[in-house]
Amino acid sequence: MIESVLESDAKLVESDSSFQSVFENRLRPTCFNEYIGQKSLKKNLLIAIEAAKKRGDPLDHTLLHGPPGLGKTTLANIIAREIGSDLKITSGPAFDKQGDVASIISNLNENDVLFIDEIHRLKPVIEEVLYTAMEDFAIDIIIGKGPSARSMRINLPPFTLIGATTKISMLSSPLRDRFGNVFNLEPYSNSEIKDIVIRSSRILDFDIEDNAAEHLAKTSRSTPRIANRLLKRVRDHAEVGGQKSIDSKILNKCLNSLGIDELGLDNKDREILSVIINKFNGGPVGVNTLSAAISEEISTIEEIYEPYLIKCGLLERTPRGRIATARASRHIQI
Ligand SMILES: Nc1ncnc2c1ncn2[C@@H]1O[C@H](COP(=O)(O)OP(=O)(O)O)[C@@H](O)[C@H]1O
Ligand SMILES: [Mg+2]
Repeated sequence: MIESVLESDAKLVESDSSFQSVFENRLRPTCFNEYIGQKSLKKNLLIAIEAAKKRGDPLDHTLLHGPPGLGKTTLANIIAREIGSDLKITSGPAFDKQGDVASIISNLNENDVLFIDEIHRLKPVIEEVLYTAMEDFAIDIIIGKGPSARSMRINLPPFTLIGATTKISMLSSPLRDRFGNVFNLEPYSNSEIKDIVIRSSRILDFDIEDNAAEHLAKTSRSTPRIANRLLKRVRDHAEVGGQKSIDSKILNKCLNSLGIDELGLDNKDREILSVIINKFNGGPVGVNTLSAAISEEISTIEEIYEPYLIKCGLLERTPRGRIATARASRHIQI
């Protein structure tokens, strides 16, 4: 059902019809039981869903925030399925004019779920229209120009908006305040990621030895999407080597060839650390200088590489610049 919903709404989706999402759909859990981890989020969400069902109301608008690959889109699919509604998928940048809000929402049926990915990228004028759509299930549209302009109110079916964002701080507070449920997705523990790896390997119909699953989990940066991606790559290695199951040996070979170390760092992560350590005496070095030294854009450094390096205790952000920690020096030496 979910798959067909996704397909039929391809028009609504801005960039999700990519190859990646086709592969991800197979591994994507379709119900809460299959959705591993995020225990407290799941508990609160289930209560909210059940209460809404009992009242016959749509679920309160729900905001999901957290780093990429932690399961926001997956949750939106599961919620819609649990409510027994259709899911319409779109994303922040897909809304261009105020009229787009009206045309997308008025096409929903009662209690349907509208999923707006990257909701922090909505234009301010669009956000304004969304406020009344979310609060009153209505939209005021101005027709005509100058003295003859008049405002017309369009009523919308009661619906649930699910917003997903990796940058909750970029959401304006009036928009954030209109979500009845706000959930933060937490990074997964290694044992949760291991469970995800085992589940995925079952779906892909490939055995993985217990210690290999554990090792793979440790190199996956606490992120299900990365775990699934690595699993696919290791499966490639095993298949090419004529192996029917994944063991530590083939896993190590694969991780080596991808340049991924035991902390899950790739070549670029290590380059960042070794440049700070070797060229700038361990820092502090400004992000502009760093960006020039490793030929990466500042935003890529800040958004893609740094969060995990900081989380691992390898890098510190200080007012005077970036500092590589003693742990980073030890790690780079090995
Ligand atoms: N809790 C989970 N349990 C099992 N697999 C998960 C879980 N969360 C995410 N995944 C897997 O990770 C992939 C990426 O999740 P996704 O929902 O697309 O992340 P996001 O939308 O937050 O970037 C999914 O295809 C799914 O297979
Ligand atoms: Mg997503």
